[in-house]
Amino acid sequence: MLGLLLLQVLASCLWLGHSEVVKSFEECPQFFYAETTPNDALNPKNPALICQRFNNSYHYATLYDRDRRIPVYSAYKYQPGDAKKPPEWWMVEPQLIDKNSIPDMERDWILIEQKKFTSDQIKESQAVHNDYKGLKGLDRGHLSPSGHQFSRESMMATFTLTNVVPQDRSLNKGEWNAYELKTMSKKTKGCKTTYVITGAVPGNTYIAEERVNRPSHIWSAACCLGDEEPKDAWGAIAENNKNEVEELSLKELEKRLTELYGGTVTLFSSACPRK
Ligand SMILES: *[C@@H]1O[C@H](CO)[C@@H](O)[C@H](O)[C@H]1NC(C)=O
Repeated sequence: MLGLLLLQVLASCLWLGHSEVVKSFEECPQFFYAETTPNDALNPKNPALICQRFNNSYHYATLYDRDRRIPVYSAYKYQPGDAKKPPEWWMVEPQLIDKNSIPDMERDWILIEQKKFTSDQIKESQAVHNDYKGLKGLDRGHLSPSGHQFSRESMMATFTLTNVVPQDRSLNKGEWNAYELKTMSKKTKGCKTTYVITGAVPGNTYIAEERVNRPSHIWSAACCLGDEEPKDAWGAIAENNKNEVEELSLKELEKRLTELYGGTVTLFSSACPRK
């Protein structure tokens, strides 16, 4: 009996080593400034921590809400470049299905045809391609956007359904897109490294036969490092039903999120300016 228990403990330790749905973000701390993650106030009841792995390497980190089948946030380093637009291979996360030895995100048909998963298994564990089909006025809105990545590989890694939420189309194609491209490029002038956390506040409505939550707000926060030390930080938030983005300080954003999530929210290390 004890032997069996030990075996189980050992087995779960071994899983820690190579899975990408992880117990803590210790497997991929590089996407958080000072290896500091947002505090627990954002945590959903049934979370999955994902070190987003594609083609054998990590590209960003996502906190996923298994019940609502949307990400809570994705965290990454802002590294835009001029790589050619990659093919849009929409992927899913095998490790949300069960504990298995497939560490990379993958296209669903490959999991079905080559790895013997069923489409029901995939659908039960996460949002799938079909959930976003034929939606009126809603896009698959990236939290970690491909336009903030310089390599083709990292860009491709953003096309996974664990990194998107149902986002108002006019907002996604309009002001949010302008914030991601123009505002971010302006504000990061003189930043050697910029860490970004972009998230979605769960809403009261669902799409796809009540499977996938439609967030009430989309938000983003950035902490900009000069040489080594943070020198600037800022935030943005948008209601997910109109084409309007409000820019604010990190402190103001944390305050707003504290009201929306109902618990004190801290997004970045205290070294990032709250002014
Ligand atoms: C995957 O990694 C290999 C080896 O590093 C590289 O040659 C290849 O270009 C990568 N594939 C993509 C799609 O980036």
